[in-house]
Amino acid sequence: MALVTTKEMFAKAYKGGYAIGAFNVNNMEVIQGIVEAGKETKSPLILQISKGARNYANITYLKKLIEAAIIETNLPIAMHLDHGDTFELCKQCVDDGFTSVMIDASSKSFEDNIALSKQVAEYAHAHGVVVEAELGTLAGVEEHVSNAYGHYTDPAQVEEFVERTGVDSLAISIGTSHGAFKFSGNPQLRFDILEEVSKRLPNFPIVLHGASSVPQEFIAEINKYGGNMKGAQGVPEDMLRKAATMAVCKINIDSDIRLACTAAIRKYFAEHPDHFDPRQYLTPARAAIKDMVKHKIIDVLGSNNKI
Ligand code: G3H
Ligand code: 13P
Ligand code: ZN
Repeated sequence: MALVTTKEMFAKAYKGGYAIGAFNVNNMEVIQGIVEAGKETKSPLILQISKGARNYANITYLKKLIEAAIIETNLPIAMHLDHGDTFELCKQCVDDGFTSVMIDASSKSFEDNIALSKQVAEYAHAHGVVVEAELGTLAGVEEHVSNAYGHYTDPAQVEEFVERTGVDSLAISIGTSHGAFKFSGNPQLRFDILEEVSKRLPNFPIVLHGASSVPQEFIAEINKYGGNMKGAQGVPEDMLRKAATMAVCKINIDSDIRLACTAAIRKYFAEHPDHFDPRQYLTPARAAIKDMVKHKIIDVLGSNNKI
């Protein structure tokens, strides 16, 4: 099995009313935890690499680790650039062998977003790579309100955007945000916007960023063992399940991986103050990531047994 694009994954997910997990990866233990969960649940996977991950780990290491993951699991895996911010970075990733790239020009004007997303789509498509773009900005990113939808995606713009750019999937803003502190009050998502977008773009895959659920058991463990993350809150899992049954085909998860890893390591250090071998504390961290991802795949995304 070689790396795959998201084309077939999304077509099947759309029809089947489930979503594919897009998990951010930065090192070997994170990749192993995710793909072991994928293997046990027979789930396709998207492993996504941010600009920060490229800088942290070096792309050659990440690519080789993902190649190893495919050899070990034989799973359909897409290697995706998360939040590419320039044409040059997206081009570099296409040239490096990514099968999917995101161009995030959502902070630019509608016209500039279209121009940059189209430029990336033309280059990527010429090399057999698929493209995700974003319209609307995630909550917390942009303070000013520019139209009736504020920072949310304006459904009236989506057909023109997709038609003029030629992109393969679209990230929209319906109230999610990145990180572990997503809502100060009751979590709410604008399912009416998602519904309207999917009416205007039939059979078109929609992407949800900022979709970690911030499991409270991880927060409790982190706080118990010396951390301070009071008030951390994510997207409730039933909302994610609902989105997955609608047009959302890709659900992005990074913070939950970080939380699972940190909770396990904090606990380990507290219980074994004399240990100093990284294998000792990275083993439970990797296991915690694997358990969390298995739970997501089976109980939230519904992508188990879909290979
Ligand atoms: O959306 C952002 C992802 O969580 C990646 O985060 O830029 O810190 O690698 P990062
Ligand atoms: P979370 O911070 O909710 O995990 O979102 C990750 C993400 O959207 C990566 O692009
Ligand atoms: Zn994101």
